Amino acid sequence: MQTIGVIGAGQMGSGIAQTIAQHGLKVFLSDRDLAIAEESHKGIDRALGKLVGKGKMEVAEAEATLARITPTGELAPMAEADLIIEAATEKEAIKQGIFENAGKVLGEGAILASNTSSIPITRMANWSPDPGRFIGLHFFNPVPVMGLIEVIPGLATNKDVTDRTIEFAHLLGKEVVLSQDEPGFVVNRILLPMINEAIFVLGQSTASIEDIDLGCRLGLNHPMGPLQLADFVGLDTCLDIIRVLHDTTGDTKYRPAPLLVKYVEAGWLGRKTGRGFYDYTGDAPVPTR
Ligand code: 3HC
Repeated sequence: MQTIGVIGAGQMGSGIAQTIAQHGLKVFLSDRDLAIAEESHKGIDRALGKLVGKGKMEVAEAEATLARITPTGELAPMAEADLIIEAATEKEAIKQGIFENAGKVLGEGAILASNTSSIPITRMANWSPDPGRFIGLHFFNPVPVMGLIEVIPGLATNKDVTDRTIEFAHLLGKEVVLSQDEPGFVVNRILLPMINEAIFVLGQSTASIEDIDLGCRLGLNHPMGPLQLADFVGLDTCLDIIRVLHDTTGDTKYRPAPLLVKYVEAGWLGRKTGRGFYDYTGDAPVPTR
């Protein structure tokens, strides 16, 4: 693979584009508005600058990496891509529109992938022109740092498409977990009930935000506590994923914690809005309860 299209220039799309470019491939990074894609390009420039500042990358390498990423407001340039990765918001209607449009430019033999956190791959494959060339490719945040990619073939995905996708993930220096197309795949199926349970624990006033996070950091050796991690992932994304688990399985063990629903309704979505379980507007995060 030489050229990759990334659709969606948010937190995940930016990290995916940066990682791909760092591994020598050309990237078209699109969003519905060119200005959003350009803003993401500037953010990647800053991230690469930090690597240079730490002595982990040469200036020339950072410049070459950035030059491999072309921000765009259109999907047309992706006609030359060997792989198009959708990394948009977890809303089915939005993803459906993206796959229908991406399908119009998808090159012969090229693969269409979704970075969905939990929406069934087999369902989304039907919104693409060729379900045999559709696959789940699930990255973890922060993408340049995290060592894992989940690869999720749908019911109709061709075996050679799965093999080429795994090869691509290895090219990015990531380990691969191959998952069947079951709700939440492997990691989010385990992670989201834990985060949701932490929010129940908070809602029942069993312990404070700080103590819940401290408990998991020191008691389980997790790098972040579950409430910190929820803010990091985005509370809206957490709610979307737990709802998919709940709706697709009908199992009440996945019912969303009422406090999670309330925070999302309040627009307190975590780091990206400056407030979630912590307030991020000052020098250090401050618990909000
Ligand atoms: N982009 C690039 N590099 C980053 C980064 C980012 N956004 N954030 C941190 N880093 C780098 C730092 O530069 C640093 O690199 P260095 O060791 O070479 O200097 C390294 O990561 C460690 O960063 P820090 O020292 O600033 O901070 P921490 O040691 O606290 O680590 C963390 C930060 C890597 C984010 C760590 O807290 C962590 O691993 N947290 C858990 C993350 C996690 O669980 N992610 C998965 C979320 S679930 C998901 O994404 C799936 C989705 O579907 C929901």
